Amino acid sequence: MGDATAAGRPETATAVPAGTDLAKAGLRFEVDGAVATVTLNRPERRNAMTFDTWRGLAAIGRSLPADVRVVVLRGEGACFSAGIDLGMFSGDGEGFSDGSDAAATDRFIAELQEGYTWLRRPEIVTVAAVHGHAIGGGFQLALACDIRVAADDAKFCMKEPALGLVPDLTGTKPLVEIVGIGRALELCLTARTVLADEAARLGLAEIVVPRDGLDGAVRDLTEALLAVNPGAAVATKRLLWEAAENTLEQQCAAERREQIGRLREMFGK
Ligand code: ACO
Repeated sequence: MGDATAAGRPETATAVPAGTDLAKAGLRFEVDGAVATVTLNRPERRNAMTFDTWRGLAAIGRSLPADVRVVVLRGEGACFSAGIDLGMFSGDGEGFSDGSDAAATDRFIAELQEGYTWLRRPEIVTVAAVHGHAIGGGFQLALACDIRVAADDAKFCMKEPALGLVPDLTGTKPLVEIVGIGRALELCLTARTVLADEAARLGLAEIVVPRDGLDGAVRDLTEALLAVNPGAAVATKRLLWEAAENTLEQQCAAERREQIGRLREMFGK
């Protein structure tokens, strides 16, 4: 494996690290030039996710080839994902922490969250292609992506509170940022399902297309994203994600800083 770049990505990685069993994690990972596709691949379980799934996602993030610019996340079969594998609550597979060791549980959840946080890196644009159900951890995975393209049969549901849990896979921040605190409370505390047309109105999906047009819409979007200058895309993503946290003054300074970088690259200084 090559040296880490400034972006924290290996320069020459082409595969997930040895020892990561993506099939066991219910994942498929394909790279085609500048586009990587991560497929949630347990269709017989509606792409329910296990701890291995989240660790597998983190491993993909760590080993993403440096020339990948767009990452598409999609689900195989009937839906995007039915969220956490409910079998884990009844003792199948690896057990849950009971939370009694707070520090260990904190570390454990942080490790799982790594499966989601890399999707925000400025060096890539991440696209969730959502059809059918996106429940709980599945909804949060879509929220972790930069752009959501939904089929008209998409159904989003934040189910965790109904199961006695909180959403803890990085989803609460983007949810509040997108829909506002009132709507986020209403969606989470009722665990109701949001259909595609409402998702579009709320900004939970940037694009909604007929079910049989989903792959084509994602292809068109990917082509458009790749047509933009790579350096400008990275700098602009960085800038836009900073905007919500910055004051106007800080954001103006960030724009100047990024533009100086662009100008230097364009004029070879
Ligand atoms: N965990 C484990 N197995 C699942 C899950 C899941 N989350 N979701 C579906 N499956 C299994 C079903 O048990 C069923 O298995 P079987 O064929 O052995 O009976 C198979 O996948 C197909 O599921 P159906 O319910 O028959 O499919 P349907 O299309 O009718 O419904 C739906 C899909 C709505 C997703 C339903 O399966 C469901 O409600 N699943 C549970 C969703 C859930 O509560 N997830 C947890 C969210 S909270 C979180 O992620 C932290």
